[in-house]
Parts: sequence; structure tokens; C-alpha cells
Amino acid sequence: MNGFSFAQQRYDAVSRFFHWTFLLLLTVEFLIAWTMPDIHKGTLPKGLISWHLFLGTFILAMALLRVLWRLTHAAPASLPMPHWQELAAKITHGLLYVILIVLPLMGWANASSRGWDVKLLGLLSLPALSPKGSPWGLEIGDIHQAVAIGLLVLVGLHAAAAIFHHWILRDGTLARMLPAKK
Ligand code: HEM
Ligand code: HEM
Repeated sequence: MNGFSFAQQRYDAVSRFFHWTFLLLLTVEFLIAWTMPDIHKGTLPKGLISWHLFLGTFILAMALLRVLWRLTHAAPASLPMPHWQELAAKITHGLLYVILIVLPLMGWANASSRGWDVKLLGLLSLPALSPKGSPWGLEIGDIHQAVAIGLLVLVGLHAAAAIFHHWILRDGTLARMLPAKK
């Protein structure tokens, strides 16, 4: 028993759907990123690279929808906890949302500077975010990789905090992101 039974303190179903779908999407995107061939000057966006762009642009679209949903639907009131924990959670969540948008944009800018046609769902051509051959667009590829690692570290801290709340503090935090038990 986690001392948790207030239905009103759960995230709504759409927020929960977004939350766990992102865990799945990001897991697949990282697996693709780490198995796709190295990208050099003149590499074409084929095979796993094109899957990385396909899923990456889908993640961007989903992230925009998720942020829009969050801006129009408040989170449930925070559980009682020390101020520093509440602040740490707010900062982490805010940073996660920012990275979910900025990271794919950087990948997109890098792809544009390589002269690749970036498409949403492989269908709708998106505008180039940087001119072909642009030095900053090429540089941003390395930053894209570094920020991806930053995202991984942050998600690791976030998941560790959730597990700490669940198993050590037993305060019902994890249940806020799960459907109510029948
Ligand atoms: C949240 C979504 C994304 C994640 C988590 C992600 C993650 C990564 C990671 C980890 C790498 C490094 C791969 C390695 O170690 O070799 C990478 C490289 C790359 N990604 Fe993404 N990516 C995302 C979205 C995108 C999008 C939307 C695009 C383009 C439309 C993109 C284009 C690229 C390119 C071109 C590289 C190679 C960069 C270079 O070598 O200079 N990524 N991505
Ligand atoms: C095993 C992995 C994960 C676990 C156990 C987990 C658990 C949780 C829990 C319990 C909450 C609710 C916190 C609260 O009530 O204050 C939460 C919120 C959140 N999680 Fe996760 N999470 C995981 C992975 C992820 C991933 C991959 C992302 C995306 C990058 C993410 C982004 C967020 C965000 C942005 C919030 C804040 C929601 C809001 O208030 O708007 N989480 N997570």
C-alpha cells in the first residue's frame, strides 16, 4: 500500500499516454542512433539513418503536441514534499520538455546543412533549417549528440528519483503517472 488513493491527484489519461509513449519512442530512437552507420561528408540518408530522421521528426511533432497539452492542462497538485525536492522536480521536468523540442531541431538543422530533404513521416517535406554546407549547421551535429547524452543522463536521474519515491519514500508519486487500479 503506497498510501495513495486520491483519483484527483493522478495525471490525466492523455498526459500519461504521452509520458509512457515517449519512453518507448526515445528508447527506439537511441537504439537506432547507436546502430546507424557513422555519418560523414557525402553520406546519404538511407537505411537506419532515414529511420532516425523519420522517428526523430515524429518525436518533434509529438513533443510539440505534448507541450501544448501540458500548457493547457495543469499537472495535479504536488504531493507534500520538501521544497528542494519539488523545485528539483520542476527544473528537471522543464528541462526535459525543452530538450524534447530543441534536440530534434538541432538534428534537423544538421540534416539540412548536409543537403538532406527532411520529411515529416516520410511524406511532407519540411523547410531547411540551415543552408546546405552551412558551418554552424554542420557544427550543431556534435551538439545534437552531446545534448542527446544530456537527455539520457537527465532521464536516468528522473527515473531514479521516481524509483526512490516509490520504494524508499513510498509516497505514491509513481501512481500519479499510472492508471487507477480497478
Ligand atoms: C529526440 C529525438 C532524437 C534523439 C534522441 C537523437 C539522438 C541522436 C544520437 C544519440 C546521435 C548520435 C549517434 C552516434 O553516436 O553516432 C544522433 C545523431 C544524429 N541525428 Fe539525431 N536524435 C533525435 C532526432 C533527430 C532528428 C529529428 C534529426 C533530423 C531530422 C536527427 C539527425 C541526426 C543526425 C544528422 C545525426 C548525425 C550527427 C553527426 O554525426 O554530425 N536526429 N542523434
Ligand atoms: C522508467 C522511466 C520513467 C519513470 C519511472 C518516470 C516516472 C515519472 C513520474 C512518477 C512522474 C510524475 C512526477 C510527479 O508527480 O511530479 C513523471 C513525470 C514526468 N516525466 Fe517521467 N518517468 C520516466 C521516464 C520519462 C521519460 C523518458 C521522459 C521524457 C523525456 C519523462 C518525462 C517526464 C516529464 C516531462 C514529467 C513531468 C510531467 C508534468 O508535470 O508535466 N519521463 N515521470
